[in-house]
Amino acid sequence: MFPPDEWDKLVAEQAPPNVLLVAIDEPGDVVGFTAVHPREGEMFLLFVHPTHAGRGVGRALLDAAHGALRDAGCREAFLYTHAENERALAVYEAAGYRRDGSVRESDFRGVHLREPRLVKPL
Ligand SMILES: CC(C)(COP(=O)(O)OP(=O)(O)OC[C@H]1O[C@@H](n2cnc3c(N)ncnc32)[C@H](O)[C@@H]1OP(=O)(O)O)[C@@H](O)C(=O)NCCC(=O)NCCS
Repeated sequence: MFPPDEWDKLVAEQAPPNVLLVAIDEPGDVVGFTAVHPREGEMFLLFVHPTHAGRGVGRALLDAAHGALRDAGCREAFLYTHAENERALAVYEAAGYRRDGSVRESDFRGVHLREPRLVKPL
């Protein structure tokens, strides 16, 4: 989805005080990652490799991300996700997130995005 230079920039943006957490399997291969921004209280990124989906990796990453936010003193987490991403919305709802009624609208590479804001007490 992203070319290498954009990946490098994205990873660099998760440097402290932001927190980047990576899930690996037994051989040490990356199976997923998440990033949180404690200054804002934002759950910024969550991704699990499709071959490892549906096995609890996302839940484990979310739990670790919430722990990192709590450790930084956050009392609430928020995130934005695409309105059409039904799976992500279901996963976030299973983790205790609820829509707060606001929606972020933006354009990404010519595609109009609608992203509801979800919040969860920590
Ligand atoms: C969304 C994503 C991170 C989920 O990761 P995952 O490892 O497959 O999720 P898990 O197996 O840990 O499931 C997490 C929870 O959601 C629930 N869940 C999963 N899919 C669901 C569905 N379609 N409907 C309802 N609940 C669902 C699971 O039961 C689990 O809840 P539980 O722990 O209470 O049992 C993963 O599918 C992904 O990377 N998708 C592409 C990127 C993306 O959309 N990221 C998020 C938005 S940026």
